Amino acid sequence: MTAVESAGGLEADALDLYYARMSASIGDKAEMVRHVRPGRALDVGCGSGELLDVLAAAGHEVVGLDPAPESVRRAGARNVHLAYADEAAEVCGPHSLDTVVCSSVLHEVFSYGNADAVVGRESSVSAALVAFRRALVPGGRLIVRDGVMPAPGPARIRVDEPGAVERFLRHSPFRRGHGTDREIHLEQVGPDAFEGEFSSAMEFAFTYTWGERSFAREVREFYGVFRLAEYARFVQAHGFRLVCAREYVQPGYRDHLAGRVSFDRDFPASNGLWVYEVDGGAGRERTVARIGPRQGL
Ligand SMILES: C[S@@+](CC[C@H](N)C(=O)[O-])C[C@H]1O[C@@H](n2cnc3c(N)ncnc32)[C@H](O)[C@@H]1O
Repeated sequence: MTAVESAGGLEADALDLYYARMSASIGDKAEMVRHVRPGRALDVGCGSGELLDVLAAAGHEVVGLDPAPESVRRAGARNVHLAYADEAAEVCGPHSLDTVVCSSVLHEVFSYGNADAVVGRESSVSAALVAFRRALVPGGRLIVRDGVMPAPGPARIRVDEPGAVERFLRHSPFRRGHGTDREIHLEQVGPDAFEGEFSSAMEFAFTYTWGERSFAREVREFYGVFRLAEYARFVQAHGFRLVCAREYVQPGYRDHLAGRVSFDRDFPASNGLWVYEVDGGAGRERTVARIGPRQGL
């Protein structure tokens, strides 16, 4: 069974919802476009391919890859290949890309693995980064938009729906003791109150926010794999240098959770946007590590 098959099993209406949600956040993704280098751009895990259209309209030559046959089907006539992230160099050719874009994909690579379907391992992300490094030209760009882990420390959440946290913990492949590189643990401390690491609370909240019909898929994903600065260090160790990074709350998250889940801490950032260049590149843009003071870099 491939990673994508093991991640599937969604009913048709849940699939429609999944793809509709990806397309709906296109505005949030458009910021990535201004960091794209002129030339050939790969959108990894492109889903049904809306970002490819935005990139093509901005004058880039585009190619997409996605290991889900349903994504390739929905991408239609766009230039999309059925492949995993770690196959990027084989699919596109070594040193053939000016930019690689990963929009909300690396957490899925972490959660489901590549073709090996290994769940919850940093090594799956590593394999993807090695492939991107090989596929990029000197000075090529890697643009990552993905979940970001909140600051360490305990948090308490209140949840409106009885049984929701227990159900989440029962189904999460990341619950404590299952040997994944990230673990989720929450303890009930009152009728509607739970305590644990802030990141565990956030993983519950970000799964819960998408509602019942998305639960089967979202519960299998760990969204905030690293803190903003940690992620930068991890990617840099693969031969990239950081150009800029920032974190933010994805539009809609606060509203979706209002009245359903409350935290005893400030609502944390949900997403990070990181821009890297292949080490040793010409560096057309000044290197500015715009990482917020809260990250304590
Ligand atoms: C949350 S969607 C994001 C889609 C699109 N990039 C966007 O921003 O809307 C994640 C996508 O990553 C794909 N994916 C999952 N595992 C992958 C892997 N190992 N390599 C490449 N893509 C993967 C999924 O099939 C899915 O289309």
